Amino acid sequence: MMGNQNPVGVFDSGVGGIGTLSALRRELPQEDFLYFGDTLHAPYGTKPREEVMACVTRVMTHLLSNHVKAVVIACNTATAVAAKELRETYDLPILGMEPALKPAHAMRHGGSILVLATPMTLRLEKFQQLYARYGEGAIPLPCPGLMELVEQEANEQARRYLLELLHPYDLRTVDAVVLGCTHYVFLRPLLREILPENVQVLDGNEGTARQLRRVLTENDLRAGNAGENHPGNQRRPGNGAAYYASAAGAGGHTVIHNLAANCLQNVFNI
Ligand code: DGL
Repeated sequence: MMGNQNPVGVFDSGVGGIGTLSALRRELPQEDFLYFGDTLHAPYGTKPREEVMACVTRVMTHLLSNHVKAVVIACNTATAVAAKELRETYDLPILGMEPALKPAHAMRHGGSILVLATPMTLRLEKFQQLYARYGEGAIPLPCPGLMELVEQEANEQARRYLLELLHPYDLRTVDAVVLGCTHYVFLRPLLREILPENVQVLDGNEGTARQLRRVLTENDLRAGNAGENHPGNQRRPGNGAAYYASAAGAGGHTVIHNLAANCLQNVFNI
């Protein structure tokens, strides 16, 4: 039986979701989290849809075998590909992420909204529906290759990428930039240097954290709530968060090492 002290599973194709995890931990400090970065199969955003679905299914299986009580898909791409199907398949709360176009729309003053996301996120129905509703003045900007630069902490290359991407636009007429990929949240300081001060930079991390609080509360799954001493409950190691990856040693995935230093529990070849 599910216990309130069981961890919340959080996953992404790599390190992007670690920013989300930080927001979740701030909002819900009494919860345990189990983070999985599917670094072996990253990036998701430029792969065929079926391939991403297969990756996400493997990650879900791994998280469920670790008795998670809820899952946060800390990846806009994986959400767009798989959230609906996962919710139909698994009987636990599954939260996803979407580009923060709705809040950007709410604060728009007639200027444009630049939406940075992976090619996959921007192509799929989920974003198309969001765009149909809140897309007035919004310009979707697919960013193939940008998540890799975040993974490699290639700051100078990322700066050049962003300068080139934004070059065609008069930034004085932009109201907001939406970070529609959890990896890009790590580029916020760079973007702040490039963008005029009045341009808002939005991401979905805090909103997702508040949503998780609501969902856990509604489902009576908050750690420390009734049921915490249930014999089925298991405490996770890792002082509140345990980090796993599918290929921690491969490539230039230095961020996952740095951010998860000393707490990367295990590497699974899934
Ligand atoms: N972090 C992911 C997102 O939010 C995707 C990056 C990728 O794997 O392409 O979309």
